[in-house]
Amino acid sequence: MSQLKTISHIDGVGVPSTPGKFKPDKVPPFFHRLRWFHVSISRLTLWSSFFVAFIVVYYLFSSPSPYSPSSSRRSLGVSYGGKDWERHVTRSTRRHSSKSGGGGLTVLVTGAAGFVGTHVSIALKRRGDGVLGLDNFNDYYDPSLKRDRQKLLERSGIFVVEGDINNAELLSKLFEVVAFTHVMHLAAQAGVRYAMQNPSSYVHSNIAGFVNLLEVWKLANPQPAIVWASSSSVYGLNSKVPFSERDRTDQPASLYAATKKAGEEIAHTYNHIYGLSITGLRFFTVYGPWGRPDMAYFSFSKNILKRKQITIFEAPNHGTVARDFTYIDDILKGCLAALDTAKKSTGSGGKKRGNAQLRVFNLGNTSPVPVTQLVRILEKLLKVKAKTKVLPLPRNGDVKFTHANISLAYRELGYKPTTDLETGLKKFVRWYLNYYQNSKKSSW
Ligand SMILES: *[C@@H]1O[C@H](CO)[C@@H](O)[C@H](O)[C@H]1NC(C)=O
Repeated sequence: MSQLKTISHIDGVGVPSTPGKFKPDKVPPFFHRLRWFHVSISRLTLWSSFFVAFIVVYYLFSSPSPYSPSSSRRSLGVSYGGKDWERHVTRSTRRHSSKSGGGGLTVLVTGAAGFVGTHVSIALKRRGDGVLGLDNFNDYYDPSLKRDRQKLLERSGIFVVEGDINNAELLSKLFEVVAFTHVMHLAAQAGVRYAMQNPSSYVHSNIAGFVNLLEVWKLANPQPAIVWASSSSVYGLNSKVPFSERDRTDQPASLYAATKKAGEEIAHTYNHIYGLSITGLRFFTVYGPWGRPDMAYFSFSKNILKRKQITIFEAPNHGTVARDFTYIDDILKGCLAALDTAKKSTGSGGKKRGNAQLRVFNLGNTSPVPVTQLVRILEKLLKVKAKTKVLPLPRNGDVKFTHANISLAYRELGYKPTTDLETGLKKFVRWYLNYYQNSKKSSW
């Protein structure tokens, strides 16, 4: 926008001053001289406007820094483009062969500054794959936590493009600059209860954003193979446990769950019509260092340390509310295995050339733990007694119980979680204390 303004301003300078004011036939000698003077002024103006225009053109095509929004392209309030920006993108996506057998993929990670996104990006980069991050750094939870994760990513040599998955122009540009072999799509509006406060953000990110990405991927040449985050919440009111991939998922208990379920159906469509290889991962309550502050284990820790009361929900008839808590390192291994076993997409340029892979996997821990037990472990690790209040589980999205059947993921991905809740929480608490107390950050 600012460029357009600059250009029209320059145009204004280049226009000669209004000639119609002089009547050349009747001018006295004095005015002839004035006229000659006027003509030379016009020439001077003409040449100087050429000069100014040259300078402007030079600046337009010289490379702006990716960090200074004022000098580069702006779209949806976010800057990208230019030689420097492309250099960062190219460097970040360069592959390195490594002993661990990695280094074969070029991956775009959406939601890279998110909890799972940060861990997955760093793990990929470490084993030698090329990685580019994308994140819109929204303020659903404290953006400074996302910025600190970004610093970790940058230290690992990963460039995070600041932008939204709804920005088609930006996405096309990324696929023009880099031939991504894979996409790890983790950007989403998360949270179950927040959907009642801000329903449109779920539609915007989880449906419109996803379709926007799929539209770009279908046209990309080569088409990347897609692995994306669905959710265990798609099982909704399903009461058959453990949850298996073939169980019914048509009774979502929250708009969040409904948008993730919609994503699975939309994935089917794009796989069917355009030959995109797509793998959906149903994550079960992922926790760990650098986690999300809106999740119970995180906010419980914060409130227990602040001696504030925490609310625990119970199911009807004093029933237990339990979750299949899954440690981030286990999820991470599942994500990498999904990328490594993903077959190539079969289409190109929007045309399908054969059937492509379409998969859905549960990634859980297979051992549900009651939320009361979660609190007991946190009390022990934080060395502070929790003040608890027990309320009936509200019917606004949360389900009573989650329990993953992971035999399919084990068979196809070699997925085998190894971290129990206490071991994982110990690592989380160590990180939490270090991050918020030792560094004197305010906990959101
Ligand atoms: C778990 O899922 C597999 C299919 O992947 C199925 O064969 C098995 O019966 C399921 N186990 C249980 C206990 O539901």
